[in-house]
Amino acid sequence: MSASAPVRPTLPVDILARKGGSPLVCLTAYTTPVARLVDPHCDVVLVGDSLGMVLYGLPSTLGVTMEMMIAHGQAVMRGVTRAMPVIDMPFGSYEEGPAQAFRNASRLMAATGAPAVKLEGGVHMADTIAFLTARGVPVMAHIGLTPQSVNTLGGYKVVGRADEGARVMADAEAVQAAGAFSVVLEKTPAGLSQRITQALTIPTIGIGAGVGCDGQILVIDDMLGQFTDFRPKFVKRYANLGAAASDAIADYAAEVRSRAFPAPEHSFADELPPKGAKK
Ligand code: KIV
Repeated sequence: MSASAPVRPTLPVDILARKGGSPLVCLTAYTTPVARLVDPHCDVVLVGDSLGMVLYGLPSTLGVTMEMMIAHGQAVMRGVTRAMPVIDMPFGSYEEGPAQAFRNASRLMAATGAPAVKLEGGVHMADTIAFLTARGVPVMAHIGLTPQSVNTLGGYKVVGRADEGARVMADAEAVQAAGAFSVVLEKTPAGLSQRITQALTIPTIGIGAGVGCDGQILVIDDMLGQFTDFRPKFVKRYANLGAAASDAIADYAAEVRSRAFPAPEHSFADELPPKGAKK
């Protein structure tokens, strides 16, 4: 028997068991190298449909396809050994009804090997969530600001102030009753998020939802300063990789133009070097 316990991937039941415990750390990832970076630090790695905006330059998440989610889901699965991957269901892949949702959720899970999917919507998605969970599809719900409904919501606004709070609470209770193992609260006021967190027995994962949630998630490109088209108030930048990359590319361009690059150490000699020397 080995001295240390084998590393096994986190599963939805493990996330559920963390309710009220130490905060769940969650980030998005869309590629293998980034999945490898976040895996040791995160409980959940979300292959978010935010990839449409941050990787593909789309104006919203509405143009994201099943094929994109499968390709990036497969890439992320190659980089994760212990955190739990969750794949977003793209716009148009589940809203028609439970049967369509099951067909596409099972396709995402079979093609990627991910143990769970995420979909947007509260009360009106409860039947679909119940249908999926009864058939072996663990669902992370997503309520509050649901970016796939940006056109009916009228923008990326805070959702749940004043009277609207009761509706968001009803959404939270509905997705829990339907069997979701956790719920993302996006851009809901901090007090409401805390009340929802206290009312539910499943973990809440906040993005722009204050500190009172059971966990937090950010889009990786936002927090690393790689996506700079706009910056929501809830994003804290932990690095400025976009600026660092831009400086590096400018240095490369200048060195190619001045012939400073490639230097002799980046070039190969015409003659074979003597035995034992670096090639
Ligand atoms: O698509 C995404 O990245 C998300 C997170 C912002 C929660 O849904």
